Amino acid sequence: MKVLGVNALFHDPAAALVVDGVTVAALEEERLSRRKHGHRPVPFAAWEVPELAARWCLEEAGLEPSDLDAVAYSYDPALAEPADELGLHDPWDHLRQTYAQRVPSFLASALPGLDPACVRFVPHHVAHAASGALAAPSGDTDVLVLDGRGERASHLAGHYSDGALETLATQRLPHSLGLLYEDVTQHLGFLRSSDEFKVMALASYGTPQFADELRRAVTTTGDGGFRTEPIDWGSLAKPRGPDDPWTQEHADLAASVQARLEEVLLELVGWLHDRTGARRLALAGGVALNCVANTRLHADGPYDDVWVQPAAGDAGTALGAALTVASDGGDRCAPMPGADLGRSWSDDELEGVLRTARVPYERSKDVAREVAECLAADGIVAWFQGRSEYGPRALGHRSLLAHPGREQNLERLNDVKGREQFRPVAPMVLAERAQQIFGRGPLPSPYMLFVHDVAAEWRDRIPAVVHVDGTARVQTVDAHDEPLVARMLSAFEELSGIPVVVNTSLNTAGRPMVDSPRDALECFGSAPVDLLAMGPFVVRRPRA
Ligand SMILES: [Fe+2]
Repeated sequence: MKVLGVNALFHDPAAALVVDGVTVAALEEERLSRRKHGHRPVPFAAWEVPELAARWCLEEAGLEPSDLDAVAYSYDPALAEPADELGLHDPWDHLRQTYAQRVPSFLASALPGLDPACVRFVPHHVAHAASGALAAPSGDTDVLVLDGRGERASHLAGHYSDGALETLATQRLPHSLGLLYEDVTQHLGFLRSSDEFKVMALASYGTPQFADELRRAVTTTGDGGFRTEPIDWGSLAKPRGPDDPWTQEHADLAASVQARLEEVLLELVGWLHDRTGARRLALAGGVALNCVANTRLHADGPYDDVWVQPAAGDAGTALGAALTVASDGGDRCAPMPGADLGRSWSDDELEGVLRTARVPYERSKDVAREVAECLAADGIVAWFQGRSEYGPRALGHRSLLAHPGREQNLERLNDVKGREQFRPVAPMVLAERAQQIFGRGPLPSPYMLFVHDVAAEWRDRIPAVVHVDGTARVQTVDAHDEPLVARMLSAFEELSGIPVVVNTSLNTAGRPMVDSPRDALECFGSAPVDLLAMGPFVVRRPRA
């Protein structure tokens, strides 16, 4: 079966293509449209379908819209209920539902030749669940989905066996851990439905002073679900304006919400595990991008193995919806081959772009070595290699790299990216060396979805990547999966004695991650980056 998955309704519109159960392409619309998160999650924008990403997925596989057996849309308007009956204040939600109902004709006009009758509606949380369980490297698994909202729920707990989902619990709206986290994000002066990870980073600077208040408001119900009562955030900490400095009170509020979230997650997975006794847990939904909570679930929860979908937010539902329809249609779904499911360019195409831009470049004999030398001399490198990543993390395909041994590189990179200085940057490490340096979180960790403790003897050696609480969000690099990145890391170790490099996403402030070679040149042109490594080609910034 040829199934195109589409996520469009709330945020992070994306498309994914699954052919005979194999994931062949997946891409977020923002990487093509250059609008961060595609569009704001408001009802007025819900008509927009990810037409650029959808067309690219088809082109990549040499398919026409008429070749598709199905388009899987990751929301089922038939399950929705009026927002006020769900206890949501969302006066234009009916517009969103209308757009969802009409999506077959929107898709048919975006993809001429598509039969609108082939569009299948997949319940939102089933799409998330499949993105966690059917895309995971190993078979039967429990699954936990938590996000802001779907049609009428914010959560699903279940079990997959032989590709089929048994749903064991769902939590009806308005109770939502995702919306709770969005509320505190907004109260703390960040952009809701976008900047939740900033709250997680800020939490490390605080102590959970308001834990009791949070425990009263957020409770589990003993049947696999939970309640989130309204919280008067202003009684706990003053609201922060977007440009105001943060205070200890703000950090303490962030720490309190984070701590309660972790406790509740542990209770929810405890309930699920009691029902199934399964060894493995798959996580998806926006809450699963909380790598601190994921680590707590792995360390203190009942499962031997916790796997998190790298595109755990709504973008991942494009893939999950496609996998669901493929599986329901009788295809056996293969695990996703990696997060590098986006666009790539041949060497000739890359050279063509460099020639057109008339920038001086060289074809390197050994780009891994040349990059390692630049990093060892404390240069900042823009690294553009292979297919772009699906999901919010740069995993060595569209990355900004730096020396982890220089403490000031955190500030330097946050300046390049226009980010707040309290936000950490992450290390990539050779998989075989990770155990010596990083503990507690699961290893290997190829998708940067957990945090790890940095061994005491390494903290002074890699200060740029150690967060204030002594942790780091590690990406392990296996030479089999990522031979070029692994060679660069090995060369850097030879030169510096450190098998770790700082890795953050290749973009500048407020922009989506770089996707095309042209995006890479634009980023290189406007940011103080010393070297751009694009395929085998290197472009150097002349010394001032
Ligand atoms: Fe979602």
